[in-house]
Amino acid sequence: NNEAKVDSLMNLMTLEEKIGQTVMYGGGWSVTGPTTKTDYVKYIKAGSVGAMLNVYTAKATRDLQKTAVENTRLGIPLLFGYDVIHGHRTIFPINLGLAASWDINLIEQTSRIAAEEASAEGLHWTFAPMLDIARDPRWGRISEGSGEDVYLASVMAKAYVRGFQGDDLSKNNTILATAKHFVGYGAAQAGRDYHTVNMGEGELRNVYLPPFKAAVDAGVETFMTAFNELNGVPSTGDKFIFRDILRGEWGFEGFVVSDYTAINELIPHGFAKDSTDAARLAMLAGTDMDMMGHVYRKHLKELITDGKIDVNLVNESSRKILLAKFKLGLFDDPYRYSDEKRQTETIYKPEFLKVARESAAASSVLLKNDNKSLPLDRTKTIALIGPLAKDDYHINGNWGGAGDRQGKSISVFEGLQDYLKANQILYAKGCDILSDDESGFEEAIAAAKKADVVVLVMGEDHGMSGEAASRTNLKIPGLQPKLIQKIREAVPNKKIVLVLMNGRPLNLSDEVDQVDAILEAWFPGSMGGSGIADLLYGAYNPSGKLTVTFPRNVGQVPIYYNMKNTGRPIPESNPTEDYKSNYIDAPNTPLFVFGHGLSYTSFEYSDFKLSSESIGFEDTLTASVTVSNTGDVDGHEIVQLYIHDKVGSVTRPVKELKGFEKIWLKKGERQTVSFTITAEDLKFYNNSMQFTVEPGAFEIAIAPSSDFKFEHGFILN
Ligand code: IFM
Repeated sequence: NNEAKVDSLMNLMTLEEKIGQTVMYGGGWSVTGPTTKTDYVKYIKAGSVGAMLNVYTAKATRDLQKTAVENTRLGIPLLFGYDVIHGHRTIFPINLGLAASWDINLIEQTSRIAAEEASAEGLHWTFAPMLDIARDPRWGRISEGSGEDVYLASVMAKAYVRGFQGDDLSKNNTILATAKHFVGYGAAQAGRDYHTVNMGEGELRNVYLPPFKAAVDAGVETFMTAFNELNGVPSTGDKFIFRDILRGEWGFEGFVVSDYTAINELIPHGFAKDSTDAARLAMLAGTDMDMMGHVYRKHLKELITDGKIDVNLVNESSRKILLAKFKLGLFDDPYRYSDEKRQTETIYKPEFLKVARESAAASSVLLKNDNKSLPLDRTKTIALIGPLAKDDYHINGNWGGAGDRQGKSISVFEGLQDYLKANQILYAKGCDILSDDESGFEEAIAAAKKADVVVLVMGEDHGMSGEAASRTNLKIPGLQPKLIQKIREAVPNKKIVLVLMNGRPLNLSDEVDQVDAILEAWFPGSMGGSGIADLLYGAYNPSGKLTVTFPRNVGQVPIYYNMKNTGRPIPESNPTEDYKSNYIDAPNTPLFVFGHGLSYTSFEYSDFKLSSESIGFEDTLTASVTVSNTGDVDGHEIVQLYIHDKVGSVTRPVKELKGFEKIWLKKGERQTVSFTITAEDLKFYNNSMQFTVEPGAFEIAIAPSSDFKFEHGFILN
């Protein structure tokens, strides 16, 4: 078995070779293709490198693998890792968009396809999924996760891991997944990337840890440290989270990689005095691999010799990394992922692009649709306006993997060709995403005046979200809001549809009254333009629902649906009452709530039933509701189950998602949707950090979004 094989190999290895396994370096990319620094090649030949990042294509990985296998004493193969975040070549919507599909199968399918493509290009390992709960849209990396909710993010975590790793890692189309960033990264103060995180252990365990635990339960093979400190200890040096919780409590047996130079960053954090100390602290904490930091290669040996760390720590790290290589079958055939024929046959397969098109449509959220402005009528002319209307670059979003940004992606303009004749589209860019040049306004306004309907495609630059892309202003950037206003003034009675591409909740408070419909398409990926056209013309009925709250303004941030009640909640009859927990200049409510999303049809919820009004700790409660499609088209509905634990030894949120189901109903059809609840589902960490359930009264609802009032309840006793 693999463990025994690792043991025999370890017996042959020198300390330097074992340390080598804990080292990761990175490749680059030039016009002629992938590159690797000569220094790194030298280290590879010396057996001082265990893994490489950013090197892909069958040829580049084969060449480098050959260097490792044929030039080193033991011929240990390298592990190739890359950020395959929402697709590899075929790019799917950004993860926040994928989450809005609430479609677990789709998420598993898209990550499976990503693994198929990545593995055909020599990659063994992805640094995904990102499982950081994020409740602050100023933070650019909110785009990479599943949103603000613990339950939803945990379900999605499992789907991602299953998709990437498949059911058998020894198959050459499966790749190692990484649960990142452990932990608390999404709670960076003021939404500023890499910033400090402070939170009580209760919040950590109840909100930020569960998606990671779910990933461990799904068998995730690797973890990545986070850049942030948590309660004064930088994650990469935090024994408590890696040794005590991850390994001790959860029994995780895979390996932990640092984030990029995160070990070195223990110095500016003020936690390590120099790079030797940083290597010591990271190893003690349980960081098995050093990504790009050079500190393990340089200092581990001396730390062992000086008796500052136990050699067994390095042995353990090396063992775990080797075990992953054995599981992937790299010792049987180090080149099994690096096959050019397979690469050509696999990437951009038509069936992958079909899923990309569907996922772009399934991830989009129809935020507003007054007077059934959408779907559009194919006989009408449209003025297609905005800096993203003809874009095939930003549409892939941040972390666009190896997706070809020049030429493969379908813009909205191109997507619309499936529905309209050329002379039905009056295109005008209007303005850039970020510029103060208004010279294109006139042409755009003229197009708006001439056409029957106006379709605006606007939003953020792809680099405005993702890593190191925090914003203090959540408005649609640049002159775009002004252009919307000018167009509305010029065509006061014309239908205006706003299609948005962006990586975070935006402040749409001004625009919401100026346009008739808003379709939030996030960054929809390779086939985004086609998916959007399918939605605009009703070939696909919108079904996405928000997994993050859209605030009215940046001052409400952080804002999320499952807040606490406070001791002075605002009275419904008088939300502005003095000395209550409210603002004097804005309501507490967001612009668009968690779970919101419209359809071209309508759904009615009726006949809510509970199997009992009181349950014991061993019982199962069933809650059901009848959902009817009362409109005139078929469609998906995302049915959501919420509970409220009314009194606890620590206070509980006003609402908590505990289940959901995405159903398909033909027009006129109805279906009973049932959920089961057990005491296990009602557990939380109390102040003694026990995962427990407390008897008492609970409220319960099945609803189309988080915007509802509880009317039913049960007692647990
Ligand atoms: O995987 C990423 C991580 O999320 C942020 N820093 C760089 C890593 C490797 O590219």
